[in-house]
Amino acid sequence: MTISTGTRLAGKTAIVTGGAKGIGRHYSEALAAQGARVMIADIADGKEAAAEIVKAHGAGSAVSATFDVGDEASVKGLVAETIKQLGKIDILVNNAAVYSTLKPRNFDEWDTATWDNVMGVNVRGPWLMVRHVAPHMKAQGSGKIINIGSGTFYKGVPRMLPYVVSKGAIIALTRSLSRELGAFGIAVNTLSPGFILSDTGLVNSQHVEEERIPVRNSRAFKRDAYPEDLLGALIFLCSGDSDFVTGQSLMVDGGSVNN
Ligand SMILES: NC(=O)c1ccc[n+]([C@@H]2O[C@H](COP(=O)([O-])OP(=O)(O)OC[C@H]3O[C@@H](n4cnc5c(N)ncnc54)[C@H](O)[C@@H]3O)[C@@H](O)[C@H]2O)c1
Repeated sequence: MTISTGTRLAGKTAIVTGGAKGIGRHYSEALAAQGARVMIADIADGKEAAAEIVKAHGAGSAVSATFDVGDEASVKGLVAETIKQLGKIDILVNNAAVYSTLKPRNFDEWDTATWDNVMGVNVRGPWLMVRHVAPHMKAQGSGKIINIGSGTFYKGVPRMLPYVVSKGAIIALTRSLSRELGAFGIAVNTLSPGFILSDTGLVNSQHVEEERIPVRNSRAFKRDAYPEDLLGALIFLCSGDSDFVTGQSLMVDGGSVNN
């Protein structure tokens, strides 16, 4: 599967949190391939990902910055840096999360520090991003916020409790924010992927072992899923094609969950 190129996001700018690797890197590439200029914002170094995009789509098509999405001062700095480098923010993809590093365990085996860290990054993080990006979107009277959820919330997947709870909160965040931001022309939606074989996710071998076959069997389309499977839905939610869609969760999971 290849990334489709076009001009559907020409003139737009986007922040992709967690955009340096895993699925986020594919999101960054897909947005640039449709003409957006992209800020790759990650706790990991995104220089290589940005350089690859610039090579494919020209100077200025991508920049990168390191930051911690759970830390408000860091988020503030990132948003200021994005405005400095890209001039405006049309699209926010709230993708950064603690996911592939979490080893599955039973509900009573999680330590509170891990619980708090997952909530701090996966829930407080997207909220902080919206808190600091929204003023810029409000000023221009438009914006697209895409929060990345997960099919695990709909299915109540076991042995990943803090993660599943955090992704449930993403649905709540989307629904409430869509009401608060609609008056300013800002759309807020969730893209909820099913189990995706991302390069970073594959490193979590125990989770892959527990999920891969049962998930595949639960789908209407009985095959594995890859980051490329998500890109059409992402571009739809970022583009004018979805202008009357807000507060929704779009499942992209091969028909595993009947939402
Ligand atoms: N892979 C799947 O099966 C799957 C399924 C459903 C949803 N998701 C969601 O998709 C997104 C990407 O998942 P992935 O598979 O690429 O896993 P991943 O763990 O590689 O992605 C997380 C990204 O966020 C970054 N990140 C982590 N902590 C951060 C912080 N404090 N500040 C800034 N950036 C930080 C990481 O460096 C990484 O680039 C996540 O939101 C995940 O919950 C993944």
